[in-house]
Amino acid sequence: MKTPKVSVRHLKKSFGQGEGRVEVLKNINLEIYSGETIALTGKSGSGKSTLLSLLSGLDAPDEGDLFIDGENLSRMPEKELTRFRASRMGIIFQQFHLVSTLSAYENVLLPLELMKHPQAMNRALELLESVGLSHRSQHLPSELSGGECQRVALARALAISPSILFADEPSGNLDEETGGKVMDLLFGMVENTKTTLVLVTHDPDLAKRCSRVVHLEHGSLL
Ligand SMILES: Nc1ncnc2c1ncn2[C@@H]1O[C@H](COP(=O)(O)OP(=O)(O)O)[C@@H](O)[C@H]1O
Ligand SMILES: [Mg+2]
Repeated sequence: MKTPKVSVRHLKKSFGQGEGRVEVLKNINLEIYSGETIALTGKSGSGKSTLLSLLSGLDAPDEGDLFIDGENLSRMPEKELTRFRASRMGIIFQQFHLVSTLSAYENVLLPLELMKHPQAMNRALELLESVGLSHRSQHLPSELSGGECQRVALARALAISPSILFADEPSGNLDEETGGKVMDLLFGMVENTKTTLVLVTHDPDLAKRCSRVVHLEHGSLL
């Protein structure tokens, strides 16, 4: 039988203490297979971003196990986890999170240099070209439009050819037309590279473009 790329077992996460304690994720179980594109849906505040943070190793669960490519991230020492994330995962956020002091080109170059990619500079230029931003390579994020920033973020996330791409409402901060173009680009690149995708979205049309939808409600997946 095929082994899952991601396997989540009894994941739990709460915030706060005592009376104010909120159980956001109560019992999350999920398996994701290589090449799948998963839409993660749910109401605002249902815990989608929290779950994405756990899946991408940005935050740790209170309980449960998370396996990616057969490795248990819940038990991994911090340093190893950082390296695992840098070498296997791409992440895109609603707010872009580019490094404000680096140019578009330098933002894409950064993860490649961290991983000592043998042709980091060429690869960064190629990626900028593939998102249609060769002519903006020397610009700072503050000199780029929202859509351009998100295209840089997409190029950066895919730079290391991640094993899995996580995206948290990547068009949420863009107008409809720009967001649509960014999503077309994202789906196109994911398809070309056969990258496994977990996409948080509240847009049913975007969810339909994924191979599977999982819905978060009352702290569990439906
Ligand atoms: N760091 C945090 N500290 C306290 N509460 C948090 C934190 N992060 C998220 N929450 C709470 O967890 C719930 C789920 O948040 P979130 O995962 O951002 O939901 P969604 O992305 O589905 O809108 C919300 O009630 C939110 O207030
Ligand atoms: Mg969110």
